[in-house]
Order: sequence, then C-alpha cells, then structure tokens
Amino acid sequence: MTEKAAPSPGSGEDQAQLWNGPAGRAWVEGQVMMDQMLHPFQERLVAAVAAQQGERVLDVGCGTGAVTLAIARQQRPGGAVTGIDISAPMLAAAEARRNAAGLAARFLLADAENHDFPPAGFDMLVSRFGVMFFGQPVAAFANLRRATRPGGALHFFSWRGGTENSFMTLAERVAGPLLPALPPRQPGAPGQFAFADHDYVQEILRQSGWDRIDIAPAAAECRLPADQLPTYLTRFGPLGRVMERLEPAWQQDVLARLLDAFAPFIQAGEVRFTAACWQVTAKA
Ligand SMILES: C[S@@+](CC[C@H](N)C(=O)[O-])C[C@H]1O[C@@H](n2cnc3c(N)ncnc32)[C@H](O)[C@@H]1O
Repeated sequence: MTEKAAPSPGSGEDQAQLWNGPAGRAWVEGQVMMDQMLHPFQERLVAAVAAQQGERVLDVGCGTGAVTLAIARQQRPGGAVTGIDISAPMLAAAEARRNAAGLAARFLLADAENHDFPPAGFDMLVSRFGVMFFGQPVAAFANLRRATRPGGALHFFSWRGGTENSFMTLAERVAGPLLPALPPRQPGAPGQFAFADHDYVQEILRQSGWDRIDIAPAAAECRLPADQLPTYLTRFGPLGRVMERLEPAWQQDVLARLLDAFAPFIQAGEVRFTAACWQVTAKA
C-alpha cells in the first residue's frame, strides 16, 4: 500500500489551513449544535475509557473539547486527559470551556501526525472523527502508537462511505449542479470519508504496528434542532466553504432548495439521521 499524497497547499484543502480557517470557525460557532449531533459517540468513548480504566488518555483531534472534557469529568484522582488539535480557534474554545467548568484537562496545539510525544506516555488514545485528516496516515498512526504504552488501547470512530451517509452528502448532490465552484470529494484523500474503506484502515493500522485490530460497523441516531439545519447546511463541509462566498440572494435560493431536499429528515422539530461509522479498536 502506498501513502496517499498530502493535500497540496493552496488546493483549499490544506488541513492546517482549513481547521484554522473556515472549518475551525464553523465548528467553534456551531459547537453546541455539533456536540448535540455527535453526542452518541461521546457517550461511547467515555464508556470505553471507563471500561479500560485508562488513566492517561489522549483525545486525538479533540476540536472544541467535548470528549476530552467528558472524560475529565468522570476521571478518578490521578487520571489525566489531554486533547491534541491542529486548530488554534477550536482549542481556544476547548480551553475556555475547561476553565468555565473548572476541569483539569490539558490541551495541546500540535499536529498529531508528527508531534514529538513522550514515548509510551498514554494508556489510551480516543478520537471522535479526528483521525481521518493525516497526509501520511501510516506515519501518523506509528507516531500515535509510540505515544501509547505497550498494551495501551486505541479507540476511535470514523465515517463509513458517503453512500451509507446520505445525510452527509445530500447537500452536495443537490447544490452541486448549481455551484460549479464546489470541488468534488476526492475518494481516499484526507477528509471526512478518508477512512470509508475497511481494508484501507486495517492496512494503515497494521503497517503502523498496531495489534488486535478490530473495525466494526457502528450506527447511531443523531439529532439536531430543525431550526439549526440552515446553519449546518451553509457553514459545514465542502458546501459550507462555497456557500459563505455566495451573494446573499443566490445563497438564499440554494438554501431553499436544500431545505426542500432535507425535509424527509425532519421529525417533531428535529433533524434525525443515522450515522454510519466504523468503531475501530486496537492495542499498541
Ligand atoms: C471533525 S473534527 C472533530 C473534532 C472533535 N473530535 C469532535 O468530535 O468534536 C476533526 C478535528 O481534527 C483536527 N485535526 C485535523 N488534522 C489534525 C492533525 N494532524 N493533528 C491534530 N488534529 C487534527 C481538526 O482540527 C478538528 O478539530
């Protein structure tokens, strides 16, 4: 297996640029909505940490900190949780939440792909959709394995494909013909669906030296308030990056068509959809 090319600077998809720019801004402003939507995965990761009795935990691609802080909240004395992220604005939001809650989590602004972690410094690594953005995934997961003590656990969620996650791709399918500037997703490139292929993920973990790899389908019902749907559609993902640059009238026109297309997902004032994911576990 060969490494996939890192996103080229200037392509609009350079990951550090993206998460310190428009994607980071959208996640900070939409923090409450995104945490509500992805809450089922937070619960599963917190339960996994409790089951492993992991004392020194690293949350990879922790973003605005929901999972890191939920782990901090349930940790026993002597435990420590660190969140690492490449996005300065998202980490600033995480730190503000930690300070407001008086929790003891540590946040590290660094690239998890090549950060010089203390060897074997963690008992457990977790991630909620934060590990699909590495330009060199084998090198990144080898770096994360060295940061984990022998026998320590890896537990993360990643998205399966766009076909299984029609909620995540419907907006592009509806708006694509109207917006020539909307870049098509590059299959396998760093991004939301980079880990869609089971065998690809298996190979990355095998080559980076992880053991007892298990990659199981995981589904969860996700919800967000229906009145937040316009924000979700106009701010997040590849479409969000194009929508924010449109003339207001054009934006309204595209949004109206999107809302029509998303009507089947709305029930009782909520948007509801099933997230099709992989739950991935392994041992260092
Ligand atoms: C989809 S968001 C998920 C955020 C968070 N885990 C959550 O569930 O709310 C992906 C996160 O991965 C981070 N990220 C992307 N590449 C990274 C890297 N190389 N090192 C550390 N964090 C990275 C992004 O900045 C972003 O915060």
